[in-house]
Amino acid sequence: MIIANWKMNGSKELIKNWIDVVSRDIEINETKECIFCPPTCYLDFTGTLVRKTSKGIKLGSQQFDSELLAPLTGGINSQMLVDIGCEFVIIGHSEQRIHVDESNQILSNKLKTAIEMNIKPIFCIGESLHQKKANQTKDILIDQLDALTSSFVDKCIVAYEPVWAIGTGENAEISYIEEIHSFIKEELRNKKNSTNGISVVYGGSVNLDNYKEIYSSNMVDGLLIGGASLDSDTFTKIYNMS
Ligand code: PGA
Repeated sequence: MIIANWKMNGSKELIKNWIDVVSRDIEINETKECIFCPPTCYLDFTGTLVRKTSKGIKLGSQQFDSELLAPLTGGINSQMLVDIGCEFVIIGHSEQRIHVDESNQILSNKLKTAIEMNIKPIFCIGESLHQKKANQTKDILIDQLDALTSSFVDKCIVAYEPVWAIGTGENAEISYIEEIHSFIKEELRNKKNSTNGISVVYGGSVNLDNYKEIYSSNMVDGLLIGGASLDSDTFTKIYNMS
């Protein structure tokens, strides 16, 4: 699967242009999902446009709140996401973990709520540069994976995104990605006692120069692309040629 994470970028016009180009040029392969996560305020607008193209581009949200009924100003719940046709949601992105200070308990509630509503979580995990240098990567990942109970393992996508690689132009080396993905898969297998339904995608400075090497690894089940996904031609090329 190839996921476009637009973060806090775009406008109605840019989204429309992007969808026009991507839906014209993309060669959708049913075994490789194409997921577009625009900013929350454009989700409904985006959903309407992608459905019109009938290309099978899926809608993903960058966030939501696990409560269904709390008096939460600014909140968006899972029912609202379902209502506008959202099939995926990013949970635990490091930018949210840092800014909103999300605990494992909150993340676990979000995973549960999304799965109950049939929205597939894209659950992000990854170590900071400081943690990497201190040789803590695997401990950090084990701790982050604690939010994922065994019954959720095959119902969500895990995205390994080393924080130091996000938006920095410095992707992780393929040997490092393979080592860490293999470690994450092993952890997930141990939780679930099976290999079925485990997918681990990579994110962090994926671009036209490095996507091929990363995606071609059999340890990598997809790509989560931020900056490089903003350009419709770049995103389409990465999707078509990966
Ligand atoms: P990047 O972002 O591709 O711009 O590094 C990836 C992400 O944060 O999902």
